[in-house]
Amino acid sequence: LSVGIVIVAAGRGERAGSPEEGPKQYRPIGGRAVIAHTLERFVTWPQASKIVVVIHRHDENLLRAALEQVADLPEIEIAFGGTTRQQSVLAGLRQLKNSGVTHVMIHDAVRPFFDHDLLDRVAAALAAGAPAVLPAMPVTDTLKRGDTSGLVVETVPRTGLHAAQTPQSFLFSDILAAHEKAAAEGKSDFTDDAAIAEWCNLPVTLVTGSADNVKLTIKRDIAMADEKLSAGLL
Ligand code: C5P
Repeated sequence: LSVGIVIVAAGRGERAGSPEEGPKQYRPIGGRAVIAHTLERFVTWPQASKIVVVIHRHDENLLRAALEQVADLPEIEIAFGGTTRQQSVLAGLRQLKNSGVTHVMIHDAVRPFFDHDLLDRVAAALAAGAPAVLPAMPVTDTLKRGDTSGLVVETVPRTGLHAAQTPQSFLFSDILAAHEKAAAEGKSDFTDDAAIAEWCNLPVTLVTGSADNVKLTIKRDIAMADEKLSAGLL
């Protein structure tokens, strides 16, 4: 396999607190930007061939500062994202188009705590011929559907339900074609890349994710990550 990596980091992070603190992928945890941790785990993985980071146009200086915090950084390519995650992913895929990669892993910059075992599991499924691979964890909470007045309508059986993680990984030509098709047809409501693959009838293979591989979404997630890193728990 020749595996390209697309790290999407063009979000504005509005859910993570006040805008003046900046997007969450650049906030410090354990003394370095979130995205520096994410990048380091990819650059130290022997199978990563090309890395594209997709950023917002205003964030170039923030990214440059974060890149300084990664040891032995190989050449990284930068692409500019769009107003939705889906548009940002497509910008990253287009950037990889002529790079010769056969496969691609698409990862959220705000998930810094995956490990190489997870990447190896995903790569093994790709090598076995899966065109689309989704790391995910079985749902352990009991799920309730509520109505707008705050009352429980029903309990949703959780059998077979999984919480999707990244890096979601694909045969490069398949996912590029799927994303281009979605964009051409104006389909913009996909919340992850596996959903676009499903929409194109690609079989999506589940592999076991990792409990640590959480998405840092709200301010509290950043504070907890910082504490865990300082305590040596991650
Ligand atoms: O907003 P959400 O939690 O879905 O963001 C997941 C990842 O997608 C983040 O790393 C964020 O920076 C990225 N993203 C992006 N472009 C957008 C929105 C989100 O690259 N327009």
